[in-house]
Amino acid sequence: MRRLSEKLALHGGEPTRDTQAHPWPTVGDISGRDFGEEEIELLSEVIKSGTLSRHGGTMVQQFEHEYAEFVGVEHCLAVTSGTAALHTAVGALQLEVGDEIITTTITDMGTVIAILAQNHLPVFVDVDRRTMLMDTAKIEAAITDRTRAIIVVHLFGQPVPMDEVMGIADRHGLYVIEDCAQSHGGKWAGRMVGTIGHINCFSLQQSKQITTGDGGIVVTNDEHLAGRARLFHDKFYDRSGQDRGIDRLGMNYRMNELTGAVALAQTRKLPAILQRRRHTAELLVRKLAQISGIIPPYVHPEATHSWWKLSFQIDHELLGCSTEQFLEALRAEGLPFFTGYAGGLPICACPALAEHRAYGSGQFPWEPPYGRMIEYRAENYPETLWAQQNTFIASWNEGFSEADVADLSRGLAKVAAYYRAR
Ligand SMILES: Cc1ncc(COP(=O)(O)O)c(C=O)c1O
Repeated sequence: MRRLSEKLALHGGEPTRDTQAHPWPTVGDISGRDFGEEEIELLSEVIKSGTLSRHGGTMVQQFEHEYAEFVGVEHCLAVTSGTAALHTAVGALQLEVGDEIITTTITDMGTVIAILAQNHLPVFVDVDRRTMLMDTAKIEAAITDRTRAIIVVHLFGQPVPMDEVMGIADRHGLYVIEDCAQSHGGKWAGRMVGTIGHINCFSLQQSKQITTGDGGIVVTNDEHLAGRARLFHDKFYDRSGQDRGIDRLGMNYRMNELTGAVALAQTRKLPAILQRRRHTAELLVRKLAQISGIIPPYVHPEATHSWWKLSFQIDHELLGCSTEQFLEALRAEGLPFFTGYAGGLPICACPALAEHRAYGSGQFPWEPPYGRMIEYRAENYPETLWAQQNTFIASWNEGFSEADVADLSRGLAKVAAYYRAR
């Protein structure tokens, strides 16, 4: 006899998890963050020293040293945010107004801000619907005679296939910037993210694998780019003692010592944080693979994921339901999944880009003679539209326990069983 499926919470059954009594751990507070005595001790040291600026202090410098060691790069520069890191990386390239930089349709606005803030034009490439990562097979078609760089985004903690990206960049003489904001500790083919592109960036914003609330990091093995990045982030003041005068427009993106203290403590915890995230995320992925109708996240065989988010898709035919129906049932069960990352559309569909509004009422830097009026239409990115609509996403963190994973997989199995049996 066919076993009846359990009554869904959506239909008045008991929810899988009472989230009032047992909330999920979240990156918004201590339940999903690893802060403690280590941070307090270093912060206290900074306060007692009386030096809060990186110039004269030791904490930011020590953080740069230890983060560089963790990643395995020559040069590391601490800045105030992931956006500042990307702006600094783009600034270090010293490109021309109207030059084009290729990036992906699914990312945070920070990636795009870095391009426009230097008056370059973002050109978008559609994604692979399975991973929501930039589809590397579509990069070459986006290259023009004004293309100078590619910013790849290792979305949700999974690296983009970097062999293909570097091959294309070599053939066309382009710079590559890795946006590793979401992927501290990720690897491509055994190589740490942040060591493959020419100049690469991380974020320390509240939700990332390690955090200072806000903060960012630029890394590179290129001495020349490292020097220019350091000048750019510090108003182009030359601190080497040679005083060559202010040579270019720079920013003030200096990290302060208080932030540096937390960044240093967090860096020392990063290997353990990654281990905890990987343990629970991979446990859940194995459980998802056993639920008929659920398609676990596709992870490329060369990719080492660092699980900023965990995603899956469903087999609509087998389950006989829509993404919306399945999501509604999951939410009623108390499961923390959502669809639609960063607005749920290709990022270029936002009004600022679609209507070419960066500054005032003009269309600079797109308008000729500086640039060209690139059309940013959502319908030009069908894979992005599909993936944004049909990918279930949960924010992952090191607070998730095996018991949480058991609840998640039980709820998913319950909802899938209901739809299979219907
Ligand atoms: C892929 C990506 N790029 C850039 C950023 C910008 O980082 P931040 O918020 O630290 O400025 C973020 C973070 O939100 C991000 O996820």
